[in-house]
Amino acid sequence: MADRQSLTPAWFARARGRLERVLARSRVPEDPGHARDVERWLLRLCPDAGWALRFAALAHDVDRALPDGERVERRDFADYDDFKAAHAANSARVAARLLREADAPSPVVHEVTRLVLAHERGGEDAALAALCDADALSFFTHNLPFYRLREGLDETLRRVRWGIGRLSALGRRALAAFPFADPAIRRMLHDELHHEAQGIRFSYLAHRTR
Ligand SMILES: [Fe+2]
Repeated sequence: MADRQSLTPAWFARARGRLERVLARSRVPEDPGHARDVERWLLRLCPDAGWALRFAALAHDVDRALPDGERVERRDFADYDDFKAAHAANSARVAARLLREADAPSPVVHEVTRLVLAHERGGEDAALAALCDADALSFFTHNLPFYRLREGLDETLRRVRWGIGRLSALGRRALAAFPFADPAIRRMLHDELHHEAQGIRFSYLAHRTR
């Protein structure tokens, strides 16, 4: 029986190759690894994920890899959620362009656009929920050390809380069970998940500096 790799549609292989070349030029060092990590989480959460959903997992943050003047910038938005919505819209536009250049079928282009547009806010359908959880989980399992180094502890804690807030109950269980090697990250997430579950906002910073 043919394995899944040998059944990969030609448009997917072409679009993935184009996407990986864009991601490789990102000024954000975690970007290429994050795309692959989100795909890994997606396939753990949803082993039967279709090709459109897989491409959405790989391309959902492509905006961040674009050159100056083409990507959405945090400094241009007062509100973090408005920034994330603009980032998702720009990623969806670029993902659709890469797919069209790779001769992907129109229904795939539409589905990837829909998924990437909504990937920050999630939704009711299973595909979107799996993408949102996979993305949120990968922030913790891949991006977090890079983010903390670049942004500092206060901003990292704000981002951690925002990320936990995006997770479904299943996603929170997956996060709680993940074997983090770094004890500081393990303790931060344990405290945040524990107090989130109790409805208490925990001050890791105050705790840490006591
Ligand atoms: Fe992401």
